Order: sequence, then C-alpha cells, then structure tokens
Amino acid sequence: MARLLVTGGAGFIGANFVHYWTAQYPEDRVVVLDALTYAGNRASLEAVADCKQYRFVNESIVNEDVVCELLREERIDTLVHFAAESHVDRSISGPAAFINTNIVGTHNLLQAARSVWLDSDDAPASHRFHHVSTDEVYGSLGPSDPGFSETTPYAPSSPYSASKAASDHLVRAYHHTYGLQVTTSNCSNNYGPYQFPEKLIPLMIVNALDGKPLPVYGDGSNIRDWLYVADHVRAIDLVIKRGEVGETYNVGGNEERANIDIVNTICEAIDAAFAADPGLAARFPDAPAAGGRDSASLITSVKDRPGHDWRYAIDASRAQRELGFSPQHDFIGGLQNTINWMLDNEAWWRAVMDGSYRDWVAKHYAVD
Ligand code: NAD
Ligand code: TYD
Repeated sequence: MARLLVTGGAGFIGANFVHYWTAQYPEDRVVVLDALTYAGNRASLEAVADCKQYRFVNESIVNEDVVCELLREERIDTLVHFAAESHVDRSISGPAAFINTNIVGTHNLLQAARSVWLDSDDAPASHRFHHVSTDEVYGSLGPSDPGFSETTPYAPSSPYSASKAASDHLVRAYHHTYGLQVTTSNCSNNYGPYQFPEKLIPLMIVNALDGKPLPVYGDGSNIRDWLYVADHVRAIDLVIKRGEVGETYNVGGNEERANIDIVNTICEAIDAAFAADPGLAARFPDAPAAGGRDSASLITSVKDRPGHDWRYAIDASRAQRELGFSPQHDFIGGLQNTINWMLDNEAWWRAVMDGSYRDWVAKHYAVD
C-alpha cells in the first residue's frame, strides 16, 4: 500500500489523477495539497470526497513547515507534484506568481522531502518524488525538426516554461547531489474533463456554446501535440511504477495539429452535436448552431501572443520502449469525450468561470 501526497490535486490534471488513482488503487492513501488558486476547484474532487482514504489540505506548497508536517504525519512515501501556475498568457502578464509557485514552491517540496525522507530516523523504506513537467521547457521547433527527446537541450521561452525548466533542474540536482529518488515526466498539451476554460480547447467549446468570439492568436498556424488527460495520468502511473530513479520520460499523443485546425474541428463537432440533439438549442440559445449557422462563423483572428512558440512535438519512444506506454485515445475520440463532458457538466464550468464554485464548496464542506 502506497501513501501519496498529490500537490495541485484540485487542478485539471491533478484531479484526473486523483480520480484515476483512487479507482485503480483503492487501498492507497491519497492526500491532496492544494492552495485553491483560481485554477483549483474542490468541486473537481467531489467524486472522491467520501472516499475514506482521501484527505484534502488547503495549503500552499510554498509553506515548507506544512509540507514537512504532512510528510511525517501521513507517513507519505510517494509525492506526485502537479501544483503550478500553468497558463502561458498569465505568465506573460504576471510572471512573479510563476517564480514563487513553480520554482520556490518546488524547491520547498524538495527541501521537505530531503529533510523527512533522507535526514530523519523515521523515513519510509523507500520513497519517490515524481515531478510533472511540460514539453515547453525545450522551446520551439521548426517545421521539419524532429520531436523533443529526453536529451533535447532546454530552451524555454516564456516565463511559464522558464519556471518549469528551473524546477526540472532543481529536481534533478536533488537526485544528483542528495540521492533523492526522483522521476520527471515532460508532457505535451493536455485536454479533457475539468480543464479550466482559459486554455485553448475548453475556451473554444464554452465560447462556441455561448455565441462568443473564438480568438485565434496570429494566423493560427502554431502547432501543438495533444494528449487526452486520461492517457497522461496513466503514463504518470507507469513512470512511478516502472520508471528509473533519476530519469525523465517524455510523454505525448502523437497528435500534432495547427491551432486553426483544432478550432475548426471543435466547431464541426459542436454543429454536429446540435444537429443530433434539438434540446441543445434551448439550452444554448446564443450558439450559432442553435440557429442552424456554423460555429466557425465565430472564429476571430486576434493579436499574436508575445514570443509565441511555433511548434511543439514529442518523441515519446523512450516511454513506449521502457514503460510500455502508448495513448489509448486518438484526438477525435478524446475531443468528442471532452465536448460531451462539457455538455453534461455545464454547472461545473459556469461555476469555476465566475468563481461561484467557492460558494458551492462552502455549502458542501466544513473549512479545513
Ligand atoms: P492547473 O492550472 O489546472 O492546476 C494547478 C493546480 O495547482 C490548481 O489546483 C492550483 O490551485 C494549484 N496550485 C497553484 N499554486 C499552488 C501552490 N502554491 N500551492 C499548492 N497548490 C497550488 O494545471 P494543470 O493543467 O492541471 O497542470 C498540472 C501540472 O502539469 C503543472 O505542473 C503543469 O506545468 C503540468 N503540465 C500541464 C500540461 C497541460 O496541458 N495542462 C501539460 C504538461 C504539463
Ligand atoms: P494554451 O491552451 O494556452 O496552451 P500552451 O500555450 O501552453 O500551448 O494554447 C494552446 C495554443 O493555442 C497556443 O499556440 C496558443 C493558442 N491559443 C489561441 O490561439 N487562442 C486562445 O484563446 C488561447 C487560450 C490559446
């Protein structure tokens, strides 16, 4: 039986990971540590709220005393680190929070893990610090460059990716210098249930349903590799269980697409959903699809993001070869699941967007 501390478990990928882990390993202890920033929603963990192996702690990873106490009190042996400021556009308008959480916060976790796991008498027999990172640390690719591999030199270009790169280096240094048992995964763009509607895919779905403009940065030619979130959390499980200590694994979906193609595909899927279900027009009267018009009529070209990376692509052959990982969802299937989930969970996304999920939480939970 493992005892996990999951940082950022109320965020998009963290919540999906907690759902997966509690279902897959019901005997394991799962303690979530989350500061509940705008991106963290306790409502995303409602499904596990009554699970007796689960505990939620509303605190910041920047608080080292809290982390040390939790590691000791809960006898944690596995720390899975998702907590981060994660949105590139916010890192451009306000980088300081990214430095604080992504660099200082990660270092606090490492210090706490070192002190409890390496320098104390009651340390668990073995431990693991798994760090969840991004392919953005490698910078931008040209049209015919090979995908990022684990040996591609780091060349981050936004404050977000620079802060994640710094955290990756610190994690590696704590292994090299102190012998902390770490692994790192660098993953491409995720999408799926519980993603905050500021990222490309959920934002476009919500705006198409509400009849708002679909803002495409620049000419829309920028390319990302897309992975359905359920595949990412499975890959993290494989790295934790089979990955070699001190190593990094690149994870991707092998689904490179230009932004404008993604937006058009979302529009077509929404038009098809409205055509198949006449009830949607009554629920979303402002959607062009409610009046039989194309959602794509909302596509609007807007000013490009400063320093916008042009292309990301992943060479995931190491994870496939050494961990047996390959994605189980292709982009079209994953996108359809995501749109269906958004249609079925309108209350969730409306509440997280206007902040009213906090009222919902206050009604459902006593304050920790
Ligand atoms: P998210 O923004 O949806 O969630 C981040 C979570 O961290 C939130 O619950 C937030 O409340 C919490 N948090 C923020 N600051 C905190 C602090 N100081 N202390 C404790 N909790 C704090 O992010 P996400 O998309 O779920 O990403 C999770 C991790 O995966 C991040 O480390 C990110 O860099 C990485 N990643 C994300 C993607 C992606 O496409 N979303 C791809 C690759 C890697
Ligand atoms: P995003 O979801 O912010 O992820 P990242 O920047 O970490 O890759 O953006 C994905 C791509 O979509 C990126 O090239 C920027 C672009 N984009 C838009 O064109 N319009 C938008 O409104 C957003 C949020 C992103």
